[in-house]
Amino acid sequence: MYSDLIHLGGADKYVDEVLEIINSIKLLDDFSADEVRYLCAYMQCYAAPRDYSLLVEGTGGDYLLLILSGGVDVYKNDASAEGRHMVARLGIGDTIGEMSLIDGFPRSATCITTHPTDFAVFSRASMQELLVNMPKLGNKILIKLLQLMTERLRDTSNRYPDGAFFSLV
Ligand code: CMP
Repeated sequence: MYSDLIHLGGADKYVDEVLEIINSIKLLDDFSADEVRYLCAYMQCYAAPRDYSLLVEGTGGDYLLLILSGGVDVYKNDASAEGRHMVARLGIGDTIGEMSLIDGFPRSATCITTHPTDFAVFSRASMQELLVNMPKLGNKILIKLLQLMTERLRDTSNRYPDGAFFSLV
């Protein structure tokens, strides 16, 4: 995974940095410092340059990324001259890739960095391990992921009038 990027090591080395931006991290904003510390032990961090495709629509993948610095644009493929259209601009504290982590289907969109971007990876295997080792914390993060996904779906569908959204997906 991301063998062409700089591997920054386990997120447990960056707990203080994560706690500094905890209020911007929707996934973790109501987690205690101890819970964050425990979760960080399950994540690996990488640094990507600008214009790097972190996730590619239609490809497989069973992990999510937590953006720690920089940002990404999210694109859906379409039949226009450009071949794609932007559906979201995301930044520090946002997560991408949670859809395939949960349902195992191919990536629903392509996510390209807009700036040099540091991110943490949380895989389905880690999620399963967490659910076995710390069910309360595992369930807390699962529910948070569900909330983020429904929030994003509401946000996207609200931006398209009269069902136009449903012709895009
Ligand atoms: P996933 O399908 O695993 O991989 C692509 C990711 O892009 C997806 O998970 C979401 O994290 C993100 N994504 C897809 N569609 C949208 C959207 N409409 N708004 C924000 N993010 C999206």
